[in-house]
Amino acid sequence: MPTTRPTPGDTAWFVHDRFGLFIHWGLYAMPARHEWVQHNEKIPNETYDQKFFTRFDPDLYDPAAWADAAAAAGMKYVVVTVKHHEGFCLWDSAHTDFKATNSPAKCDLLRPLVDAFRARGLRIGLYYSLIDWHHPHFIVDPYIGPCRDHPDRAVLNRGRDQRIYAKYMRDQVTELLTQYGDIDILWFDFSYPKEDGSGKGRAQWESDELYALVRRLRPGIILDDRLDMGDEGWDIKTPEQFQPRGWVHHKGTPVVWEACQTFGGSWGYHRDEASWKSPEQLVHMLIDTVAKGGNLLLNVGPTARGEFDPRAVDRFGALGRWMHHHARAIRGCTQAPDEFVAPTDCRLTWNPVTRRVYVHVFAWPFQILWLDGLGGKVAYAQLLHDGSEIEMKGLEDWQHAFGGDTGAPQKTLSLRLPVRKPDVLVPVIELFLA
Ligand code: GLC
Repeated sequence: MPTTRPTPGDTAWFVHDRFGLFIHWGLYAMPARHEWVQHNEKIPNETYDQKFFTRFDPDLYDPAAWADAAAAAGMKYVVVTVKHHEGFCLWDSAHTDFKATNSPAKCDLLRPLVDAFRARGLRIGLYYSLIDWHHPHFIVDPYIGPCRDHPDRAVLNRGRDQRIYAKYMRDQVTELLTQYGDIDILWFDFSYPKEDGSGKGRAQWESDELYALVRRLRPGIILDDRLDMGDEGWDIKTPEQFQPRGWVHHKGTPVVWEACQTFGGSWGYHRDEASWKSPEQLVHMLIDTVAKGGNLLLNVGPTARGEFDPRAVDRFGALGRWMHHHARAIRGCTQAPDEFVAPTDCRLTWNPVTRRVYVHVFAWPFQILWLDGLGGKVAYAQLLHDGSEIEMKGLEDWQHAFGGDTGAPQKTLSLRLPVRKPDVLVPVIELFLA
């Protein structure tokens, strides 16, 4: 359990809670083929607005149902896209007309969401896109956005002033951090600086000013790492769409980190995507993250009518069933001390307060589970989901030569497991240290 780089923001609750819900919801739920659809298909703003903005009507929106699903899955915080790259705002911002209140939704969609999640004890995070393909002062660059390879970008950029856009961001962030109660996380996304200034990063966002503003308004807020401020300006590292090999480091120092992952590959609702992860894979992902000392922010893309689709409902249900029995092996847990070695096909998590080790068994072995480094250290072992004892006398003395005795310097503990895998997605054995 390494000591991590100190964070300006308050990450104590964060590393305890471990599991959060990411929500990507905007106009892109209507085309339903990736939240980058406007970029991918180079859809001009006029077309995008006319097709989607004028028709966005989430009549089945019920944030209480979303919050119930998240709470039942054991999630303790939510991060919602109040504005994604398309520029559309879920809240009633005074600084733009491109917002939910001016669409057929006709209301501030953020406020009831914040209220519903808070009512269930979840903390609130806001994702705010630095990129904005809709704002009239966002400089059109050659890298991203629907007009990136427009034959005459110079003409498009005539009259645009990126500084006005940077101020717009500060004004909107001020609204968000002053009108919606205590916000715990702010998730800026993202920078793509280029040496010749043609991209977007610290200079173009005026990141230093933005960062100072955020810290002044909410000193303890947790910030992600995408403002392009190098060693400063962030609390957490945020690898996305992959599982890092071990605890995440920055320049050799372990840091607080959070993996963000999707169900199917895209973040916004994608109707035809066939690459959805199985419930078992998702549980593996959660365990693997905590076993490496990180948090998991798992994403859902609600539909344009405001619901989680049946595939998502199925995943939330499975996660909830698993977490009902196993939250204790996730919350308050972290990477196990180096002296404990994870057996083949297993991950270890560790609660330093209760001093319990959790062995998450990804592939159920036949009868014997060998634990190097734990011989003589465990007072009691049980299956976590039903609290049933696991006998620690794994092998008879004469059998030891056939596997228990590896000749390794650490002492080995062998557990005798039931032959049949228990009926849970990933069985966990709870070890009480002596
Ligand atoms: C990316 C994508 C985006 C998504 C985000 C989540 O940077 O641009 O669509 O919101 O990652 O981490």
